[in-house]
Amino acid sequence: MSLLAKAREAQRTAYAPYSKFHVGCALESIDGAVFTGCNIENASYGATLCAERVALFKAVSEGHRHFRRIVIATDSASPASPCGLCRQALSEFCTPELEIILVGSNDTERRFAFSDLYPHPFDQSSLV
Ligand code: THU
Repeated sequence: MSLLAKAREAQRTAYAPYSKFHVGCALESIDGAVFTGCNIENASYGATLCAERVALFKAVSEGHRHFRRIVIATDSASPASPCGLCRQALSEFCTPELEIILVGSNDTERRFAFSDLYPHPFDQSSLV
């Protein structure tokens, strides 16, 4: 199954009764393992988790910290970009070359290098 098909499958499991905006993603590690995520909303709103962080935290919690690509699937006419919190969370583990593939309705695609979407992350070097 392609990475996009996995992201679309994850999108179908999104729990989004409040926004009705369903997001699915598939994150591929450098050894080829794939971790999927969907957005999981909460009545408090603030406890909502985005699809990208669900996939990232699944991967890291299973020992994977190096990634090659991420596909993020929505039904937006213009493929939706990851939010700032997800960009920051991804920046902890991703190289500037991580390929980000955004897919919208009718499978319209936009591709970016991670560094194009998030060029100056807060990182370990900021702490010294
Ligand atoms: N959402 C994601 O899953 N990923 C993003 O990068 C942006 C937003 C979700 C959160 C919420 O459930 C819904 O989309 C609307 O913001």
